[in-house]
Amino acid sequence: MIKQDKKNIFIETYGCQMNEYDTELVRAILRKAEYRFVEDELSADVVMLNTCAIREHAHRKVYGRVHEIKHKRQGTPVKIGILGCMATNLRTELLENKNLDIDFIAGPDSYKRLPALIQESYQTGKKNFDVTLSEFETYSDVYPMRKEGVNAWLAVMRGCNNFCTFCVVPYTRGRERSRSVSNVVDEVKHLADDGFKQVTLLGQNVNSYKEGGHDFASLLEAVSKVNGIERIRFTSPHPKDFPDQLLNVVAQNPKVCKQIHLPLQSGNDRILELMNRTYTQDEFLKLVDKTRKLIPNIALSTDIIVGFSTETDKEFDDTIKVMKQVRFDSAFMFKYSERKQTIASRKHEDDVPEAIKTERIVRLNELQKQIALERNEAHIGETHSVLIEQEETNKSKDHYLARCDNNKIIIVPKGPYYKGEIHQATITKASPHGLKGNVLK
Ligand code: 5AD
Ligand code: SF4
Repeated sequence: MIKQDKKNIFIETYGCQMNEYDTELVRAILRKAEYRFVEDELSADVVMLNTCAIREHAHRKVYGRVHEIKHKRQGTPVKIGILGCMATNLRTELLENKNLDIDFIAGPDSYKRLPALIQESYQTGKKNFDVTLSEFETYSDVYPMRKEGVNAWLAVMRGCNNFCTFCVVPYTRGRERSRSVSNVVDEVKHLADDGFKQVTLLGQNVNSYKEGGHDFASLLEAVSKVNGIERIRFTSPHPKDFPDQLLNVVAQNPKVCKQIHLPLQSGNDRILELMNRTYTQDEFLKLVDKTRKLIPNIALSTDIIVGFSTETDKEFDDTIKVMKQVRFDSAFMFKYSERKQTIASRKHEDDVPEAIKTERIVRLNELQKQIALERNEAHIGETHSVLIEQEETNKSKDHYLARCDNNKIIIVPKGPYYKGEIHQATITKASPHGLKGNVLK
C-alpha cells in the first residue's frame, strides 16, 4: 500500500459558494490526516471533483472532466473521487456507469469519512461510497483551510427544507441544521485574528437559521460584535424569511453590508405556486418596497428561472414586468433544467421548447443589462467606502480590484493603499458589470 503521507491531492470545485467552502472543509480534514495538496491533476495521486447538480451544464462538465483527466494521465495511476451534490443525486449512475472510471464517492455530509474512503480504495481497489445524509452534521468542529484573502466564507447552516419543486438541493444536501451562535462567533474571532476583514455567512437558506432560541437577525448582531471584522455579508436567503427585525439589523448595523439577494425565480403567480415558492408577485413586490423604504441605499440582486414547466409567453411577461418594476442591481438568469429526484421531475413535464427558453433568457438578459448599467451610472459622482480585495485585476497590474459596501466591484488605480484596507472612493465610470473610480487621499 502507498504510504498515506506520500499522497498528493488535487481538488477541483464546481458550482456555488457552499461548494467552494466545502472544499476548504475537505482540505482541512485531509490535512489533519496528513495528506498534501498539489495544484494540478498531473502530479496528484488522488483527484477529487467537488461537483454541483443544480443545472445540467454542471454535471455534463464533470463527466467530460473525468475522461479528460484519465486521458491526460496516460495510464499513470490516479484515484478519482466524486464529491458534492452529484454524489448524492447520481450515486447509482456514477457507480454503475462502466464508462466512468472513478474510485470513490462522498456526499456533502460524509467528508469526515474521506481519509478512510481513500485508504479503503487503495486497499481494496473497489469503487466505494458514502452518501449518507445527516440531520446533524454541520462541521462546526472543523476550521476550514481557507484561501488567503480579504473575505472568509462561513457556513452557519446547511441543508434546505423548502422543496422548491425545481430544486435538487433538499435531496443532495438534506434537512436544515444550524450551528450555535457561540460556535459561529468563536470562528469569526479566529478569522479576525487570521486577518480577514469580511465574513460572508453561508447557507442554502441562510435566513432560516435557527438555533438555541436565536434567529438569523440575532446571529448577525452577535457576529457584528467581533472586533476586526469590518463587513458582514450573507447568501443565499429566501424571500419568505425576512421579518422586520432582520431588515432592521441590515438597515441599522453599520457592519452589515447594504446588499440583499432576493431570488424571485418567476414573476407569475401560477408559476410561483407550481414552483412552491410560497409567495405571490404582490408579496414579493411589497417586500422589495419595505426593504427599500427601510434601507434606501440597498442593492438588490436576484435569481430567475425561465421556461419552467408550462410557462406561457404571457406568464413570462409577468417576470419581465417585475424585473422592470423592481430594477435589480444584478440578476442571475437560468433556463429551467429538469433535475432527477425533484418534485417537478415527477409531476411537471419539462415542456417548454429549448428555443423558447433561449429566446426568453436573451430578452431578459438584454433588459437586465440595461437596468444594471443605468443603476450603476446613477452612482457616478458619489463617494463610497471601498474594501481593496486584490492588488491587481485580471486585466491590469496597475489597478486594484475593490468592492463597495453594496457589493459592486470598483476598479481603482494603484496607490499607497493595500489589500484589506477600506478607503473612500469617488465613482467616475460605470458599466453593466461594475464601476471605476479614484480613491480619495
Ligand atoms: N433549473 C434551472 N435553474 C435552477 N436553479 C435551481 N434549480 C434549477 C433548475 N432545476 C437556480 C435557481 C436558484 C439558483 C441557485 O439556481 O434560480 O436560486
Ligand atoms: Fe433549492 Fe428552494 Fe432550497 Fe433554494 S430554497 S436551495 S431553490 S429548495
